[in-house]
Amino acid sequence: MQNIAVIGTGYVGLVSGAGISDYGHNVVCADIDKTKIEQLNKGEIPIYEPGLHELVNRNVNFNRLSFTANVDEAIRNADVIFIAVGTPEGENGASDLTAVYEVARAIGENLNGYKVVCTKSTVPIGTGEKITNIIKDVSKNINEFDYVSNPEFLREGSAVKDFLWPDRVIIGASGSRAFKTMKNVYRPLYINETPIIETTVETAELIKYASNAFLSVKISYINEIANMCDEIGADVHVVSKAMGIDGRISPKFLHPGPGYGGSCFPKDTKALISMAKEMGIDLNVVSGAVVANQLQKERMAQKLLNLFDGDIKNKTIAILGLAFKAQTDDIRESPAIEIINTLNKNGALIRAFDPAANENMKKRFNDLKTFDSWEEAVKDADGVVIMTEWNEFRGLDLLKLKGLLKSPVLLDCRNILRMDDLETMGFKYDNVGRKKR
Ligand code: UDX
Repeated sequence: MQNIAVIGTGYVGLVSGAGISDYGHNVVCADIDKTKIEQLNKGEIPIYEPGLHELVNRNVNFNRLSFTANVDEAIRNADVIFIAVGTPEGENGASDLTAVYEVARAIGENLNGYKVVCTKSTVPIGTGEKITNIIKDVSKNINEFDYVSNPEFLREGSAVKDFLWPDRVIIGASGSRAFKTMKNVYRPLYINETPIIETTVETAELIKYASNAFLSVKISYINEIANMCDEIGADVHVVSKAMGIDGRISPKFLHPGPGYGGSCFPKDTKALISMAKEMGIDLNVVSGAVVANQLQKERMAQKLLNLFDGDIKNKTIAILGLAFKAQTDDIRESPAIEIINTLNKNGALIRAFDPAANENMKKRFNDLKTFDSWEEAVKDADGVVIMTEWNEFRGLDLLKLKGLLKSPVLLDCRNILRMDDLETMGFKYDNVGRKKR
């Protein structure tokens, strides 16, 4: 058992802290946000993430997990410190590392014996070296620490599962003592024979960006193929299924849709492009994916307008789904934002429903009308657009939907409804890259 401090109780920090305590370590999650810590100490989880509440409660009850606003003390008591604070998008797509460097300074000030300092937040290549230098400077060259890069690959909505049963763990470090300490942290995973890649700090930092950018490219690629399918009347699902059977391609992340969103892909692709540019390298493939993603979001808005022959003024449109994907309340970079903007610009009236993200979207659009069920949202609307693939929309009762709508017009941006059913029920509809009969 080791004493672990996780600094930053956002999405990554909280899931990682709770997950590491579940491995049997003694974990304290620290954050300068006192309100958040008070909330957590009352058993309230500030984010929506399936399984997280149970994971936190279980480990708090076993006295393995606690929360504190005293970051300095957490650092002093720890053998391993995980940096998991936010790295928002700064100027020119580069990451804003203010919070990371702040934590590095706090570590330097509180260094009182050998510790492993490990970054979980996604940081640009070379940040490890900067963090190391800050700690050395502030701690007056006490070199009793090793630096490790241990990037996370957590998907929102399945982050708990991704943490406890990861596809792989990346450990970037330079000394055998650091590898040994990290091996101890991830002991249960070593026993499970989870692939663990031990490498240098820089390589670990790049792996994270290279993985996320690749997945973004894959999505933009299938979206563009879907757009071709629209034109030629082909079915993109058959195309991606057939492509995915080829082991070299794999079927995952070949699902067409309204464009990727969330806190990672949009930010990480831009950060990677910006880093490469500084090295004099043009990442043309990733840049293409970023452009294609924005166009895909706009294309969905255009599809909706087309269903109303370009005139959507004073029409009431129901939006089903506001989160950037299902199983999360996160609306960051959600394609639904583009649709709301287009509808507002064109004088349409919006009635929206999301099972988890209503409140977050209302923070962004104060006057957005949201409802507690899809039935209420679609009532007397002139049309409906599905933006997020929540299970409850997959099983929509089309007869009921048609009865509630003023006119049966539907845009399915996630291809979750059966076209045969929509056809039989007399819907005027569109989707992403599936043949219309
Ligand atoms: C992602 C990475 O998967 C994770 O490893 C990383 O650490 C953080 O970023 P997340 O942003 O939670 O996780 O979502 P993910 O499930 O990867 O989906 C990202 C976006 O791509 C969503 O907008 C989703 O709707 C979209 N997507 C995904 C598609 O449009 N098609 C697909 O086939 C897959």
